Amino acid sequence: MPTSHIPVITIDGPTASGKGTVAHKVAEKLGFHLLDSGALYRLTALQALRRSTPLNDEHALAKLAEHLHIHFSGDAIFLSNENVTDAIRAEEVGNTASKIAVLPPLRHALYGLQLGFRKAPGLVADGRDMGTVIFPNAQLKVFLTASAEARAERRYKQLIGKGISANMDDLLMDLRARDDRDMHRAIAPLVPAEGAHVLDTSNMTVETAVEQVLGWYAAIGK
Ligand code: DC
Repeated sequence: MPTSHIPVITIDGPTASGKGTVAHKVAEKLGFHLLDSGALYRLTALQALRRSTPLNDEHALAKLAEHLHIHFSGDAIFLSNENVTDAIRAEEVGNTASKIAVLPPLRHALYGLQLGFRKAPGLVADGRDMGTVIFPNAQLKVFLTASAEARAERRYKQLIGKGISANMDDLLMDLRARDDRDMHRAIAPLVPAEGAHVLDTSNMTVETAVEQVLGWYAAIGK
């Protein structure tokens, strides 16, 4: 059955731009499903780190991604029945995810899995290439950005809030390196999709960003 009639809102953007939180709230308001595509790259990275899979072995990584036993339950993410919700948020896992995300066989392995999230009554998909590659026919495309400093500060507060020690200079450096990798890779680079609404959230609350996205969605077809 074709699923192109099922509404999709794509929310792409750089790391710590707030897209995860905004996507979550928009999905909640509309009663839509949510795809946190970054989590799929992070789950693959976590498994690769645990199994000491060489990070340049693209075929081994693709195979690993194909055989992941993933289960989403509310806000929790399970890998082979283990709750890895916090484990995949570690900086090392995020950095590894960004490194392996440049590998075409791995992206290909995760492609079909992502399409499967398009289910009635609708989907909010958060990532880097949701509007450009995975759901190019989405009903609404949003590109969320914020300055590197604003994003580093948000990440800092998040980590400290969780009792994880963090250093602003290191975070800013990591974030810039990750941006650079995500934006300049040959396959599915991080760029606004054609027709995407660009929203700079540097000086914006989450609530305002959510209202804006819902406003754009409500205006479709009017
Ligand atoms: O959104 P995030 O920080 O959880 O994503 C982690 C990494 O995964 C990110 O640095 C790049 C990669 N990623 C990607 O290449 N494509 C996506 N659609 C989502 C994430």
